Amino acid sequence: MTAQENLGIVDVPKGKRTGLEWILEESFEGWYLMHSRRTLRDIELVRAAMSSGKPVGLVMLKMLMEGVGYVYYIAVAKASRKKGIGKLLLEDALRHFKASSVKEVFASVEEDNKPSEALFASEGFTPTSFNEVSKKHGSLHTLNMYREMLVVPGEVLLRKAIG
Ligand SMILES: CC(C)(COP(=O)(O)OP(=O)(O)OC[C@H]1O[C@@H](n2cnc3c(N)ncnc32)[C@H](O)[C@@H]1OP(=O)(O)O)[C@@H](O)C(=O)NCCC(=O)NCCS
Repeated sequence: MTAQENLGIVDVPKGKRTGLEWILEESFEGWYLMHSRRTLRDIELVRAAMSSGKPVGLVMLKMLMEGVGYVYYIAVAKASRKKGIGKLLLEDALRHFKASSVKEVFASVEEDNKPSEALFASEGFTPTSFNEVSKKHGSLHTLNMYREMLVVPGEVLLRKAIG
């Protein structure tokens, strides 16, 4: 079965997200797992990919400032990977941002995370840097955005212009 055949993407409101935690447990370890759990609970928008009523993937989204969106975490259940579900979630996120007048979207990925790099590259995200972002937004705004995005050493910041 391909992802497109039997898949819906829905909003999961705060208070109804504990049923998604197992996907994070399969996807992250250590600090990332702890932080992704906390983010799942608190973040504005969580979209989940549902297959036959069961969640198989999720994406966590937020606005960093007006016109700037951030893909915080994206994760697909192990048994459902490499079927296009991550791509559908990311495309859905980009549609959502576009509808909210977002002009650019950021994401950060670990340097050696090939599946994640491949996913974002396939949707047209390209690596950027503090200096490049500062040229557009100024260093103060960029510093604030970096803080919110929690970009840490060993991660690459990715950017895509939309709209
Ligand atoms: C990253 C992740 C979400 C990808 O989800 P997925 O549903 O397997 O991805 P898709 O099937 O939609 O694939 C999207 C693209 O990435 C490529 N890709 C996916 N997994 C890959 C892998 N293991 N190696 C190489 N390329 C890969 C696909 O070929 C596809 O590229 P294409 O459109 O050019 O054909 C999934 O691997 C995951 O949950 N990983 C753990 C959590 C994580 O690291 N999240 C990212 C950081 S927040």
